Amino acid sequence: KMFSFNFVFISFHVTCKLIGSSQPVHATDGGEVILPCWVDPTTDVTDRTVDWKKGGADNMVHTYRNGMDDESAQENRFKGRTALFLEKMTTGNLSLKLSNVTMNDSGTYTCSLRRKAESGSCSTDIVLHVGEHIHATDGGEVILPCWVDPRTDVRDRTVEWKKDKVDIVHVYRHGADDDDLQKERFRGRTSLFHDEMATGNLSLKLSNVTMNDSGTYRCSLRRNATFCNTSIVLHVGEHSHTTSLRCLMPTFNSLSKINLCLNLSCFLNI
Ligand SMILES: *[C@@H]1O[C@H](CO)[C@@H](O)[C@H](O)[C@H]1NC(C)=O
Ligand SMILES: *[C@@H]1O[C@H](CO)[C@@H](O)[C@H](O)[C@H]1NC(C)=O
Ligand SMILES: *[C@@H]1O[C@H](CO)[C@@H](O)[C@H](O)[C@H]1NC(C)=O
Ligand SMILES: *[C@@H]1O[C@H](CO)[C@@H](O)[C@H](O)[C@H]1NC(C)=O
Ligand SMILES: *[C@@H]1O[C@H](CO)[C@@H](O)[C@H](O)[C@H]1NC(C)=O
Ligand SMILES: *[C@@H]1O[C@H](CO)[C@@H](O)[C@H](O)[C@H]1NC(C)=O
Ligand SMILES: *[C@@H]1O[C@H](CO)[C@@H](O)[C@H](O)[C@H]1NC(C)=O
Ligand SMILES: *[C@@H]1O[C@H](CO)[C@@H](O)[C@H](O)[C@H]1NC(C)=O
Ligand SMILES: *[C@@H]1O[C@H](CO)[C@@H](O)[C@H](O)[C@H]1NC(C)=O
Repeated sequence: KMFSFNFVFISFHVTCKLIGSSQPVHATDGGEVILPCWVDPTTDVTDRTVDWKKGGADNMVHTYRNGMDDESAQENRFKGRTALFLEKMTTGNLSLKLSNVTMNDSGTYTCSLRRKAESGSCSTDIVLHVGEHIHATDGGEVILPCWVDPRTDVRDRTVEWKKDKVDIVHVYRHGADDDDLQKERFRGRTSLFHDEMATGNLSLKLSNVTMNDSGTYRCSLRRNATFCNTSIVLHVGEHSHTTSLRCLMPTFNSLSKINLCLNLSCFLNI
């Protein structure tokens, strides 16, 4: 009798899943914040490489590899301000604590996990907002507060409101509103409280608010060389809860007939 072997090769997608937060994480200037990131399902990641980056490949916030933190590539501005919860990494918790937070820390952070430099990695993005927060509903109006202390007359100053550092929302100069530079989509929707500017109130009213108005607004006041500014984060409408990002790892192609009932319980293998 002839033996016949069914040569078996297992074919599967190796997936890994990191969970962060789909909603922006908020922090106050000078405070500390935890940027959430964990592996689903629970997996010991102490033998993996964990990278936290901000806004792109060149801004290394925190690295963990070979079982320990590695500060060699860390950006100076994050030195001494970051920490992983090392005792929680055995349960797949890669959350990062960031302390002495400044406005400059606002932005998108990427948490990523990999086994080797050459193999794939999985990652998730977390948005951090630093500053005062204001909530508005879609279609409504909102007052973004800003005032000078001590309360001085600001009618001879230049007042400028900008969104996300680039979009000009409202400009007031030479004693009047100046909408020459105003971004089109804010046209007709912004106003200052002119009566209150004599007492240092630079608050901005924004009406017909849409989701697209969410962002960081900076109020600045200028007179010759004197310059000051502050920022406020506006959130419009409702957001969904946490979501996860998934990444597919390289596929191992089947070379032969599959004759095995695969145990495809969730797993992490990167
Ligand atoms: C964080 O702030 C505290 C209190 O202001 C200060 O003592 C500490 O040196 C700061 N740490 C870093 C890393 O900036
Ligand atoms: C991860 O650890 C941080 C810090 O202790 C904690 O706030 C967070 O809830 C943990 N996340 C999970 C999913 O366990
Ligand atoms: C924020 O970043 C700007 C430019 O990168 C820098 O000039 C400023 O000192 C930073 N502010 C803080 C509080 O770190
Ligand atoms: C704001 O909404 C109201 C009512 O929907 C509309 O009449 C008005 O034209 C809108 N204004 C702007 C500047 O979009
Ligand atoms: C600025 O004026 C607005 C509109 O009247 C008001 O709601 C706000 O409380 C004022 N803020 C300050 C600090 O006076
Ligand atoms: C929001 O911005 C997106 C993309 O910039 C645009 O397609 C959409 O029409 C905008 N929605 C509103 C309500 O302005
Ligand atoms: C500021 O500029 C105004 C005119 O733009 C001028 O009259 C005033 O003297 C300047 N103030 C200072 C402190 O330079
Ligand atoms: C805000 O003011 C600080 C000084 O207080 C200055 O260094 C910074 O460049 C200003 N930022 C903006 C966006 O104007
Ligand atoms: C499938 O995997 C689970 C979890 O790893 C394990 O408990 C179970 O025994 C496995 N079943 C089979 C048939 O291998």
